[in-house]
Amino acid sequence: MAVPKFEMQVSDLISEDIEAYLHAHQHKSMLRFLTCGSVDDGKSTLIGRLLYDSKMIFEDQLAALEADSKKVGTQGGDIDFALLVDGLAAEREQGITIDVAYRFFSTDKRKFIVADTPGHEQYTRNMVTGASTADAAIILIDARKGVLTQTRRHSYLVSLLGIRHVVVAINKMDLVGWSQETFDRIVAEYRDFAAQIGIKAFTAIPMSALKGDNITEPSEKSPWYSGPPLLRWLEDAPVEDDLQTKPFRMPVQWVNRPDLDFRGFSGQIASGSIKPGDKVKALPSGRESTVARIVTFTGDLTEAVAGQSVTLTLADEIDVSRGDVLAVASQPPEVADQFEATIVWFDEEPLLPGRPYLLKAGTRTVQAQVAEPKFKVNVNTLEKLAAKRLEVNEIGVANLSLAAPIAFDAYGENKDLGGFILIDRITNRTVGAGMLHFALRRSQNIHWQAMDVSKAARSAAKGQKARVVWFTGLSGSGKSTIANLLEKRLAAQGRHTYTLDGDNVRHGLNRDLGFTDADRVENIRRVAEVSRLMVDAGLIVLVSFISPFRAERQLARDLLGEREFVEVFVDTPLAEAEKRDVKGLYAKARKGELKNFTGIDSPYEAPETPEIRIDTTALTPEQAAEQIFAWLEGAFDPGI
Ligand code: ADX
Repeated sequence: MAVPKFEMQVSDLISEDIEAYLHAHQHKSMLRFLTCGSVDDGKSTLIGRLLYDSKMIFEDQLAALEADSKKVGTQGGDIDFALLVDGLAAEREQGITIDVAYRFFSTDKRKFIVADTPGHEQYTRNMVTGASTADAAIILIDARKGVLTQTRRHSYLVSLLGIRHVVVAINKMDLVGWSQETFDRIVAEYRDFAAQIGIKAFTAIPMSALKGDNITEPSEKSPWYSGPPLLRWLEDAPVEDDLQTKPFRMPVQWVNRPDLDFRGFSGQIASGSIKPGDKVKALPSGRESTVARIVTFTGDLTEAVAGQSVTLTLADEIDVSRGDVLAVASQPPEVADQFEATIVWFDEEPLLPGRPYLLKAGTRTVQAQVAEPKFKVNVNTLEKLAAKRLEVNEIGVANLSLAAPIAFDAYGENKDLGGFILIDRITNRTVGAGMLHFALRRSQNIHWQAMDVSKAARSAAKGQKARVVWFTGLSGSGKSTIANLLEKRLAAQGRHTYTLDGDNVRHGLNRDLGFTDADRVENIRRVAEVSRLMVDAGLIVLVSFISPFRAERQLARDLLGEREFVEVFVDTPLAEAEKRDVKGLYAKARKGELKNFTGIDSPYEAPETPEIRIDTTALTPEQAAEQIFAWLEGAFDPGI
């Protein structure tokens, strides 16, 4: 294997003048890139090759690699570079790469961080994670196979994520006899697709990662190829330093307040630069001040730029919290709570419109609901398809509505302020990622109208504490029977009540909804909103819906607040509800005449910590109603 020239220089410098080496190393530019491709395209081999050729493997690793290659390698005892990268035991066993692995290497010109992202279809998440900070992408294609579905998917994501520098590495050229015709055919096919997805330019390189051709040096095997070898391309690709010329933005990571005399705002500068004396605006509040100092561990700075982590102190005591954004006052980002966005869905559980997720953008986390997608994209044909929800790996465009306004830039302007992830509130999993397009005008033109008669006043006028008693349980568990008895009991006590019952509300407000997961989410979302209005009106509201999902019951709880939400789990075992089968629906469901029936072929997620649990096998409906009544009256607090 040819040892590249610069390696000699680097190692010479290390041994002769370590100070000079460290200085040069520190001031080299950094390129972050990701590799993507289908299983077996040779990504791990390529990365292993880059590390090996740039001497970023230490002696002991090399010894282990040689030993491993003999033991489990796929190259007949020769060095199997993939083993270097496929560090996880599970990967070795399955022969695929399963998580994003970041590798570091450098040449005398540049430092590199490479995100090795897996090719398997279900691992879109890792690809997006790896791509979100990348300046460049290497899309690997197996010369024998050409452009595959995965190539298209990854290229589409690369384009969506705004990566502008793309190498199409046509690998395993040795296995097609270094055929220029094959290379040209693949390039032509790729060019057609790239044009459709907005990849304006790319460099195609014929190579063999395994044999080291066109990696560090031009290979004599491809005299017909006059472009750069891969490493040269990586060294010369322009890095995104235009970030520094964009307007100043810094999401506040934390408020640093060690004592009363010091109050600093710490974070990493997302774009632009800042100096003491610059006017800044805190968002979403919109308050302005001037930067007093730029504090770092090694002393104050006279200027700081994108990428640096700093603590800013301001001339005025303005209110800034974690999650806010500090921006240059003359060009602040927009503030909004409704957006159009592209969403990439990762999770096995589909994205359900209306379900509350957590959205994390920059350092801010807020509750968010996604509306029904406007469309999803078939990444192979680029067709826009109608969609009621997004399944794993699907990409769509939808409106988002947040519980609170955030400062943002469009993703195309600023990845840090325009990119976000979605987190499942119950499982805490990252379930999706996305890119904000623009704020919806409607949210900017609708303002909250203050009313003089308050919720407390309305409650007090009725001599009661308004709240929701939320009954959840299987169909036929006894919810409505108990709710009815409880309402009579409350009415007899002079309380002002209303009952929202699933079957009844489905006759009117929710008559457009069926029993798919997505429709049930919307069903409960609407009822939660209606019950909130009724509590605002001062009523005691009895809600009797199966409400099978934890996430939407949590949404209702959040809308109302802890003290106003009383969850009653009407706990009747499925066998018992089915035995009673008052409406004959279980029998129908068992015969397959009724689809998506709760408990049969649609899930019921029992509450974990309800305020009240009713065991209907132990209590009569009257006793149950009495128990809830006592609970409510016991907690009754007229002095709210
Ligand atoms: S929820 O799941 O969306 O909360 P909801 O309480 O509104 O359900 O409606 C449940 C009622 O609809 C049941 O009591 C039953 O009478 C009727 N129903 C009809 N089809 C179904 C079904 N597939 N699953 C559950 N209930 C159904």
